[in-house]
Amino acid sequence: MSHTRSISTVFYKFLKTNLTTNSSTIKHIHSSRLLEKNVAFNLSDIGEGIREVIVKEWYVKEGDKVVQFDNICEVQSDKASVTITSRYDGTITKLHHNIDDVALVGKPLVNIETDEAEDTGAVEKKSTLETPKLETIKSSTEIKKDINNLVETEFIHTNCDIICIPSVRRLAKENNLNLSLIKGTGKHGRILKEDVLKYLENNNGETSHSGSLVDEKQDLEEAISGFQRIMVKTMTESLKIPHFVYSDEITVTKLSDLRQSLKAISELNETKISLMPFFIKAASNALKKYPIINATTDQNLEKIYYKKNHNIGIAMDTKAGLAVPVIKNVENLGILDIARELNRLVKSGKNGSFAPSDIRGGTFSISNIGSIGGTYMMPVITPPQLAIIALGTTKVLPRFDKDMKVVPESIINISASADHRFIDGATMANFIEMFKRQIENPNLLFLNV
Ligand code: COA
Repeated sequence: MSHTRSISTVFYKFLKTNLTTNSSTIKHIHSSRLLEKNVAFNLSDIGEGIREVIVKEWYVKEGDKVVQFDNICEVQSDKASVTITSRYDGTITKLHHNIDDVALVGKPLVNIETDEAEDTGAVEKKSTLETPKLETIKSSTEIKKDINNLVETEFIHTNCDIICIPSVRRLAKENNLNLSLIKGTGKHGRILKEDVLKYLENNNGETSHSGSLVDEKQDLEEAISGFQRIMVKTMTESLKIPHFVYSDEITVTKLSDLRQSLKAISELNETKISLMPFFIKAASNALKKYPIINATTDQNLEKIYYKKNHNIGIAMDTKAGLAVPVIKNVENLGILDIARELNRLVKSGKNGSFAPSDIRGGTFSISNIGSIGGTYMMPVITPPQLAIIALGTTKVLPRFDKDMKVVPESIINISASADHRFIDGATMANFIEMFKRQIENPNLLFLNV
């Protein structure tokens, strides 16, 4: 949870709980009939065929008051880390999972006692007649104290022994550290970044998956659990698909020049325009002509759904690992719109959290590993999608021009994987040819052909 978000949530809660309706009244009495319901708040479908996730962080504890859109917890699938927010105003009465538990889509995450009239998954109802209540406007010192209390409690994650913010948890994970071995020096035993760094320093950075120092004389056995377990499951599903891979090279010299010439527009709009928006637009234009590549299937492989919208998933290297956020309705977007949306998603990836809608509903995927390195890559299809393309690093290489003179050209390699049960080689070759034509002659991109 970012500090800024915590503070704003805190203030929202503070305003809700402390502001009285009539500031001219020092004391007032109110009596109302309140219908309270203890509702099970289920993990909703977060898309991409994800059936289960790992609970990575609780932002609430039993007894906490929440309002709609307050963060409830952070869950991790094999594709992304997602922050789950509350649908209700109310009080948390039960957390259904511990950290690192598997939570199933459609099953309860928490119970919330709410005063809403909605009847979704109610497990228990009770009607109470509130006793007359005396409310007093608090003195400024009391109010300040309340804010401090709220700020403090915002950072406490209970129902687990380990209290820390997500970035600290990630730092520990990146260093294969077991957080339970580290003594937190923050308030209420919260583990701070400094605690992790100090631990690493004291142990000369030598840690094992279990957090203890590695005994190099012994093999290490570890149960496959949590995030890795989901990854194993999805990738095993992916590899049931008979992939065929089609590769080619594309000259991006003109596109690179065009991109340079758009720098001023990019700066004016405060939007980074990398090569990606052009790749995404070129793919969408080609998908219009070859709709099978933008299709999905059902689990039993009895139907093909030709999707009218081009919801293009972008493989992204985020702090929490690989994520595939989706740029929606690319067929209706211009290059600058796509760049803006990509910038937004990259920012969300850096913050370590996407909205569930950001990772939902992909119909086709692009992976550009070129910003990291590598020339060739065989991309793996994510069911229920049928195809994915991957791009390698741009390299300046000698090539012949039309007069057979050797000239330097910027070259990028592309590999496309397709589900061979539904897509044949000729269709994919035609799709990539159309993609390539637009990238090599970027003017075509603006003509939507
Ligand atoms: N070849 C050479 N350079 C490339 C490149 C390529 N194929 N693609 C991007 N770059 C350059 C960019 O131009 C940029 O340089 P600049 O700042 O000088 O302009 C730099 O690499 C960083 O690019 P980035 O900021 O990451 O933007 P992007 O829009 O090109 O890429 C993502 C966005 C999300 C695709 C990228 O950040 C990412 O996460 N890539 C990894 C994808 C991955 O992990 N795939 C594997 C899945 S299993």
